[in-house]
Amino acid sequence: MSNTLDNGKCKCLISAALEAREKAYAPYSKFKVGAALFTSDENIITGCNVENASYPACNCAERTAVFKAISMDKKSFEAIAIIAGKENDGIKDYTSPCGVCRQVLREFVDPCRFKVIMAKSMDDYKIATLEELLPLSFGPENLE
Ligand code: THU
Repeated sequence: MSNTLDNGKCKCLISAALEAREKAYAPYSKFKVGAALFTSDENIITGCNVENASYPACNCAERTAVFKAISMDKKSFEAIAIIAGKENDGIKDYTSPCGVCRQVLREFVDPCRFKVIMAKSMDDYKIATLEELLPLSFGPENLE
C-alpha cells in the first residue's frame, strides 16, 4: 500500500473498521463503532468501543485504536476510518469522532494533514482533516 489516501486505501481502512465494529462491546448503548487507524509505516490498527456498567468508564473505538497503536510503539498516523450504527439497525449515518477522541488524536498528528474518514459503507464516505473537526486546537507545541 502506498502512503497516499486514494480510494482503494479508504476502502481498505473502512473494511478494517467494519470488521473491528463486529467486536464492539456495547450492551448499554447498542451503538457499535469500529475504527481503523492508518500508520505512517503503513499498518492498520483497529479499535472498537468498549462500554462499562459504570458509564463514564466507556472507551470509544477511536481511542481504543490510538491506545493500541501507542502500546505497539507506533506514534505516527495518516488517517482514521470510523463506521458506526445501532446493533440491529444497520449503518445509517456518518459518525464523526467525539471531542475527547479528536483531542487524543491531536496529540499525535499534524491536524492539517491527518484525515478522518467517516463512512456509511465502503463506497459512501466523507473525509475531513482533523483541523476542520478541531480548529484552533491545543497541542504539544503549546507546552514548549
Ligand atoms: N462512540 C465511539 O466509540 N466513537 C464515536 O465517535 C462516538 C461514540 C461510542 C461510545 C459509546 O460506547 C457509544 O458509542 C455511544 O456513545
